[in-house]
Amino acid sequence: MTKVLSIISTKGGTGKTTLALNLAVAFREAKKTVVVLDLDPQATATAWSDQRGDADELSVLSCQHGRLPAVMQAAKENGADIVIIDTAPHSEAAALAAAKAADVILMPLRPEIFDLRAMANTLEMIAVAKKKPVAVLNAVPARGPKVLEAKTALEEMGLETAPVTIGHRAAFGYAAIASQGVTEYEAVGSAATEVRALQKWVTKRLVAA
Ligand SMILES: Nc1ncnc2c1ncn2[C@@H]1O[C@H](COP(=O)(O)OP(=O)(O)OP(=O)(O)O)[C@@H](O)[C@H]1O
Ligand SMILES: [Mg+2]
Repeated sequence: MTKVLSIISTKGGTGKTTLALNLAVAFREAKKTVVVLDLDPQATATAWSDQRGDADELSVLSCQHGRLPAVMQAAKENGADIVIIDTAPHSEAAALAAAKAADVILMPLRPEIFDLRAMANTLEMIAVAKKKPVAVLNAVPARGPKVLEAKTALEEMGLETAPVTIGHRAAFGYAAIASQGVTEYEAVGSAATEVRALQKWVTKRLVAA
């Protein structure tokens, strides 16, 4: 059965596309058939895929949010194990469509006050779809109190936070330049270890959903 993972935050630059593509590669490495649906008109994820030239193995399709149900149906009929939906910033309609379609919703945010404040709009859209997200702390600094402060703030808001956090690591930028996931770019690095751990945790949640 096809499972749907939506990555949603209406704030820009929180790491939606980075997580969507790195998780897609990690799922592919775990022998799953993955389709990424790119709802962002900027088509960042689609451009990454165009550069790779392995669309048979890992397809990334640019898709307007209004077409999401039809495109998802096609992905299901084609036997996709996982559909990952990467959403656009500043688009409540895309966030809502992705939330409605999701079995599991990841909401990436950086452990910064602006990201925490900007979450309200994302949460509103997810609530309209009658779903609950899991916050994923991304681009976390190696040291300092920010992660703990952010985790506490999320807990006080009654939000679930993924047990895996993703560090602020240069490998994400370098892998993106090479149109790779970090598990391909630097298979034994810390970024790869974190992405694989997140992929495993997400798998459990998708199975339970
Ligand atoms: N964990 C990380 N460590 C280092 N850099 C990161 C990390 N996550 C994301 N970045 C960088 O931050 C920038 C924004 O990330 P990304 O494009 O994934 O965010 P986004 O939420 O998809 O943005 P948009 O809202 O514009 O679609 C990119 O340059 C990306 O390489
Ligand atoms: Mg993006």
